[in-house]
Amino acid sequence: MPTRKRKLGRGVALVGAGMSKFGAFKDKNSRELMVEAYQELQKNVDKGLNPKDIQALYEGNGSSDLFENQIHTAPIMASWLGLVPIAATRVEDACASGGVALRQGVIAIASGLYDVVLVTGVEKMADLPTDKVTDILAAASDVVYEAPAGFTFPGLYAAMATAYMAKYGATPEDFMRVGIKNHSNGALNPKAQFGSISDLMKSRVARAKEKGQPVPTWKDEMDFMRDPAANPVVAWPMRLFDCSPISDGAACALLVAEDIARNFTDEPIHIIGSGQASDHALHERASLSSVYAAQLAGREAYEMAGVKPADIRIAEVHDCFTIAEVMATEDLGFFAPGKGAACASEGYTKRDGPKPINTSGGLKSKGHPVGASGVGQVVEVWSQMRKKAGPRQVPVDVPLALTHNVGATGGTCAVHIFERR
Ligand code: COA
Repeated sequence: MPTRKRKLGRGVALVGAGMSKFGAFKDKNSRELMVEAYQELQKNVDKGLNPKDIQALYEGNGSSDLFENQIHTAPIMASWLGLVPIAATRVEDACASGGVALRQGVIAIASGLYDVVLVTGVEKMADLPTDKVTDILAAASDVVYEAPAGFTFPGLYAAMATAYMAKYGATPEDFMRVGIKNHSNGALNPKAQFGSISDLMKSRVARAKEKGQPVPTWKDEMDFMRDPAANPVVAWPMRLFDCSPISDGAACALLVAEDIARNFTDEPIHIIGSGQASDHALHERASLSSVYAAQLAGREAYEMAGVKPADIRIAEVHDCFTIAEVMATEDLGFFAPGKGAACASEGYTKRDGPKPINTSGGLKSKGHPVGASGVGQVVEVWSQMRKKAGPRQVPVDVPLALTHNVGATGGTCAVHIFERR
């Protein structure tokens, strides 16, 4: 059967977004984090939101089963948000759960079934010790062929980074510069888990002085990044500051049919492209230095939106590890294959560069509560496109933006394109 260009059955608009702070919160459960995100969303709907208008809820969640010993969380979230008895559905695609939940919301509205949908994402990871979290995350790899061979997520992405370096001659320093850039963006985001490397250096120096310990003498941020005591190898070439952290957090986005968007705001953001694809487990792939599902999801979203990679002004991409951001900028067509690392090193992806990437701080600095991350990306493009991003606002107009959310090593990818008219 001949394929035809995929399109949305009717227009979908984003009219509100909100998120909790991302971080490690011993005193808060996932429901409380979700309420925090939803309350912020309610404040961000310019003309107000009557909760009775919400007809369905989609919840991105990676593994409440293993992190919290709680399944069936979508109706629990609906209950805590006062939204029972609307349809409430959990969506699981590992770290792409939030992006895929967004796509489900888009499809539900585009089909004509619902007019007002709340898309949410949540994860509560940080109550467990790192070794337990590592095991749970590894369950998103292939547990027959990858996990038993000793692969953890840092290990899987280290294999991709090694392949990328061997193929294109990139260096660990290129990846370090991605980390520095994202931490400096995160420093300007009050919701982020971590601040800048330079602030961290200052606090480490102050701590050493206070304790009467030898005071580090790093010359600059790169010097800190190269110091194995400050930035130890987790799985070579991925060091601590190449890895996203273990995080708790929640995020929400309110989608409505385009024809009623102005009941909620005079500045809606239109979702004009949505793409999703899957791939084999990493050990079965032809290439370790790119993510095929991201290329396909990107192509579908671009074709639907009728735009090209060069038209996208800013993007929030899935930097669960710094190598992942480098590959994403190539898979999405922003830079040619093999050029992503050099372009990042040369500053193309900085907040004031020609292609700002991860102005929120990305997963690296903002945090990576896996099920929430894809929806957290939407919160950033919503803020940037409406010029509400405060000190991290990009210095240019943003008529088009993109989000890219990857599940595991690329078994799933969801890409969305947003337009301000
Ligand atoms: N980046 C930067 N700093 C980090 C960090 C990260 N990813 N993780 C922890 N830290 C900091 C902590 O704040 C702490 O700093 P302090 O000493 O100044 O207080 C210090 O490093 C030690 O923290 P700790 O929690 O003991 O680290 P850890 O060694 O247990 O965990 C990792 C570090 C990298 C192993 C963990 O963050 C991890 O597994 N990340 C990857 C998560 C992942 O795979 N997600 C899914 C991706 S697909």
